[in-house]
Amino acid sequence: MTNYQSGFGNHFASEAVAGALPVGRNSPQRPPFGLYAEQFSTTAFTAPRAENRRSWLYRMRPLAEHAPYEPLAGFEALRSAPFIDPVSPNRLRWDPLPLPEPPCDWLEGLVTYGGNGDVGTATGIGIHLYSASRSMERRAFQNSDGELLIVPQLGTLHIVTELGRLEVPPGHIALVPRGMRFSVALDGPSRGYVCENYGGPFQLPDLGPIGANGLANPRDFETPVAWFEDIEAEHEIVQKFQGRLWRTTIGHSPFDVVAWHGNSAPCRYDLARFNTIGTVSFDHPDPSIFTVLTSPSEIHGTANCDFVIFPPRWMVAEETFRPPWFHRNVMSEFMGLIHGAYDAKEGGGFEPGGASLHNQMNGHGPDAETVRRAMAADLKPVKLADTLAFMFESRWVIRPTAAAMELPTLQPDYDECWRGFEKARLSE
Ligand SMILES: [Fe+2]
Repeated sequence: MTNYQSGFGNHFASEAVAGALPVGRNSPQRPPFGLYAEQFSTTAFTAPRAENRRSWLYRMRPLAEHAPYEPLAGFEALRSAPFIDPVSPNRLRWDPLPLPEPPCDWLEGLVTYGGNGDVGTATGIGIHLYSASRSMERRAFQNSDGELLIVPQLGTLHIVTELGRLEVPPGHIALVPRGMRFSVALDGPSRGYVCENYGGPFQLPDLGPIGANGLANPRDFETPVAWFEDIEAEHEIVQKFQGRLWRTTIGHSPFDVVAWHGNSAPCRYDLARFNTIGTVSFDHPDPSIFTVLTSPSEIHGTANCDFVIFPPRWMVAEETFRPPWFHRNVMSEFMGLIHGAYDAKEGGGFEPGGASLHNQMNGHGPDAETVRRAMAADLKPVKLADTLAFMFESRWVIRPTAAAMELPTLQPDYDECWRGFEKARLSE
């Protein structure tokens, strides 16, 4: 049984052993039980109070106690920004990744599809898919290059972090702060998506005229309570630092935080709790109405990355073309599908576990089959029941990796879904 604390970015406090959490001081001379106090900061010390994120950890040994990191070979499929492979304006779509053979763990199963920005300047995102079938054994991962937004599509992830445990089935997401150590255990074959956010931490979007409630409500985010293990055995720590993987070993479990407090913490969120808002008259709002989380950039309203979902919902608009409209956009869009069908692609080809990429200013929208049906439909209220798609949307062009462009799952004929539209008839 895993226990959680509710809220997004709250100042949580939790102790796995009664009396382990110091009261009134962050760094007392002698913390209870001889624990070591350690601050974990994911914003600058001087970030404004409303944006400042830090936690205090009370652990059995300091994290600083380890031998030098050494470069870790392998993991060729895991790449980092800057992405310098050539990029075309073409729209791209991939079938799902096959399950791994031979079996591999979550970290080994990461395949980078693309991204933008630069880990060196803390801008942009990396986009990875994973396909894995066994648990990380005595291995923890620390990503110093960015926060991780994890979107399972197949298989529940059991994520152990320094601050506690998260159970993350498909339909949920997990957020792991930059630099936090974690390990992923699996029940079986697992697949999903990861947005590695090199920029400012994800936060809830402002709601403007929507008011005080709606979209993702803060209380539905769940942060684990403190949990630790006392294991004296060798554990491997893998760190991604400036785009390269490094390893060191320690002689005990890295999950030895007995108590903690603060507002920089991992969390999970059940996407079924998203309060979906849409039109009750005509047209439909821009897809930004479906924003779950946003990583702002220094340009107000222009995100480093938005995480947007297309959940089950009623469609009731009158005299309206109801599917997503044709458009081109200064932002770039990477999409995935968790289950069901996406309402712009009734012609097929976009499968759960698959992905698509529509880059800056390149036209896209519903396929020909969707358009034919939508323009002929007798508009009654209808529920899109079996659907859960999502988008990582970024202000910068998402450059696919050369490896992603060579995947056998890349569809050579994606453009065909936009062929065969009937010409408008001006002379009727
Ligand atoms: Fe789009």
